[in-house]
Order: sequence, then structure tokens, then C-alpha cells
Amino acid sequence: MIKIEKLDHKGRGIAKLDNKIVFIENALPQEEVEIDIFSSKKNYSLANVKEIITPSLKRVKSPCKYFKICGGCDIMHMSYNDQLLFKENKVKEILHHYVDTNLKINKIVSSDLSLNYRNKTTFHIDKGLGLCKKNSNDLVFIEECLISNDKINNTIPYLKKLDFKDINKITVRGSNDIMAIIETTDSNLNIEHIKDIAASIYLKINDEYKLIYGKPYIYEKIGKYKYAISPNSFFQINNNVCFKLYSKINDYVKENKNVLDLYCGIGSIGIFVNEKNDTYGIEINKSAIKDANLNKNLNNIENINFICGDSGKSINNLKFNPDIIIVDPPRSGLNKETINNILKFKALEIIYVSCDTMTFARDLNILKNYYKIIEVTPFDMFPNTSHVECIAYLKIKDV
Ligand SMILES: C[S@@+](CC[C@H](N)C(=O)[O-])C[C@H]1O[C@@H](n2cnc3c(N)ncnc32)[C@H](O)[C@@H]1O
Repeated sequence: MIKIEKLDHKGRGIAKLDNKIVFIENALPQEEVEIDIFSSKKNYSLANVKEIITPSLKRVKSPCKYFKICGGCDIMHMSYNDQLLFKENKVKEILHHYVDTNLKINKIVSSDLSLNYRNKTTFHIDKGLGLCKKNSNDLVFIEECLISNDKINNTIPYLKKLDFKDINKITVRGSNDIMAIIETTDSNLNIEHIKDIAASIYLKINDEYKLIYGKPYIYEKIGKYKYAISPNSFFQINNNVCFKLYSKINDYVKENKNVLDLYCGIGSIGIFVNEKNDTYGIEINKSAIKDANLNKNLNNIENINFICGDSGKSINNLKFNPDIIIVDPPRSGLNKETINNILKFKALEIIYVSCDTMTFARDLNILKNYYKIIEVTPFDMFPNTSHVECIAYLKIKDV
């Protein structure tokens, strides 16, 4: 038997066994549990709970029957309030430790929905339809995914009727109309019955997207803005929290300022904050930039321009003086070259949107030498998982 001391940043219980740290999935602080070690390294081991001897009073029964094996959610054994506290504390611990012990970190902004919030889910196929098991490429076959929206869940019985022989994955996205993206090697796949539930069907063959039925785009609405999205363009996964996140950014952006929106995706942030500004958006994905230009017209916005390229490099050729730079990079964060190029602008303010608290901390630690970090706000974009989205608001130091 082993006693859980506290949680790590992935929501795993931490305990000591023979002077070695063990990370235990699905365990809560103060619980006494029997464990199964499934991986043993020199300095630490990874384990599952075999039996809970003394459960925590905080433990809740997960609403999902696949929770213990499915790799999708990792903290569904906590109440939603405890999940929020866990994430707020995680952000505080990481940023106070690596960036500044006095950094102001606001209360986490919650999601109105803790279930049924995802507007995109990728199902894996292997004799059946499922999601990857925890720490494995094996699948757990599922009938529903509780964090995906109902429209996505309603497609599952139809998807199960496909001939899975030549299919690897199926991504379903949308909150209104549904887009199905079937990764396959068979260009003649029979998809007739999928037309009953999808407004748009793509085959993805060797990384090429081929529209075989319906509309090329699906549309999502965030606030009063409507966004067209192609199959391989990024879009925030939780519309409700996306609205809260973009509204916070909009609060920081004041009138008549030039805005540079780096890693702009389909132009969604730039468009959302654009009424008051001149904006440039930069994004590496060609199809996202095509969507961004479409979205500019769709929302009747004139003073925004999009450039397709690497954000870190393309800014060197930009004939534009931004007052505010918004960055929303992938999990890897900003590289040194990008940070150096951003610093050259001496923009008055930087708004950093991050979905990975560790790379966020690493980058803020450099930026803090030139900018004062006014505040950080965590957002619960991904309920029931240990992931958290954050915004930092930075102002240039007096020079
Ligand atoms: C987290 S998403 C943010 C998108 C957008 N800001 C939004 O809210 O939907 C990150 C985006 O950065 C893009 N990206 C990744 N590496 C890039 C790079 N080196 N330069 C420009 N864009 C990049 C991705 O294609 C993706 O669209």
C-alpha cells in the first residue's frame, strides 16, 4: 500500500516507494492505494491504481465508463470545482517558480460546459472505432465521448457502418454543421450513409484533403463573428471558453492601435479585436490563411491583412509598426529567434496566449527582462483534462 502525497502537473498522484518517486494515474492526495507499476525508470516509476484502500473525500465517480482506460481525460475523478482549483494552482506553482514569485495570477475562468464542449474529435480505427488508451497506442472502443458535443457523438453509429479495412482515423468537427475527415488509402470508399449526418465529407489520402461531398467549410460563431474553417485549419476546441478568451484579449486592445496577430490561424483573434485597429496576421498554414481571407470578407472587415509564413521570420520583412503584438503559438512556444525578432519592434504591449504552461514559463522568463508582466489569466479550455490555456498581458519597461 502506498500513500499519495500530492498531484503533479498532469494530475497524477505522487508517492514515494523505496526512495523512488512514483507517478500514479487516477489517484488523489491522501489516498491509500495498491498500485500496478507499468514502467520503471532509473529515478521514477509510472503506475496505475489497482485498488483504492482509503479513498479521498474529494473523489467523485467519473461520469464516463471509459475514464480509467481512455487516454482522453485524466482528471475526471475530481469535481469540476476541484479541477479548476487544481489548474489554477498548477499555473501558480509553475509561473511563481520559474518566472516570478510575485507574478499576479487571476482566478481561472471556467467553462460553462464541463461535458459536451469539444467541437472536434479524432477517432482512431482498428477493427473498431475508439480512442487511444492511456499511455498506449491500443484503442478503447467507444459508443460515446462525453466531452465531445452531441452532434459529434450522434455521428458514431453512422461512422461504425463504414468499411474500416482501409481507414486509420476519422476526425469529426463542428457544432452546427458537421465535417467528417476520413483518413484512408481507399479513394473509392463507400460513404453514402455518412451524407445523412455530415454537411461536408473529406477523404485524407497521403496528407492531401479531397472534398468528396458537400461544402468545403464548416462555420463556427464566436460572439458576433462567423468563421469558416477548412479541414486542416486550427480552431479553438471549446467555443464558450474561446469567446471568454477572445473577449479578454479584446479588453486589452485599445482603440487606434496597430495590432500584429502572430500564429493567427484562420484570423479569428485579429478579426475579433479588429473593429478598432489596423491589423496584420501571420500564419504558416496555407489553408488557414485562405480561411482567414475568407473570414475577413465574411465579417466585412477591411483593415486587416494576412501573410502566409513563419511568424518568427516573416516579421523581419514587415513594414508595419505594431503597438500590440498578440502571440498564440503551438505547445512548443516561441523559439529564441522569434523572441529576438519580436523584441526588435519594441511594441508597447504583448499579449501571449498559451496552451502549455511550461513553454509559456520558459518564454515569459526571457520576455520579463524587457516587459513587465502585468497579469496572467488561466482559462479552462479543456475541462476534465489537466491542460490549461493562459493569457499573459505584458507592458514594455521604460527604456
Ligand atoms: C494555437 S494555434 C492559434 C491559432 C489562432 N490564434 C486561434 O486562436 O485560433 C497556433 C497556430 O500557429 C500556427 N503555426 C505553427 N507554427 C507556426 C509558425 N512557425 N509560424 C506561423 N504560424 C505557425 C498553426 O498552424 C496554428 O494555426
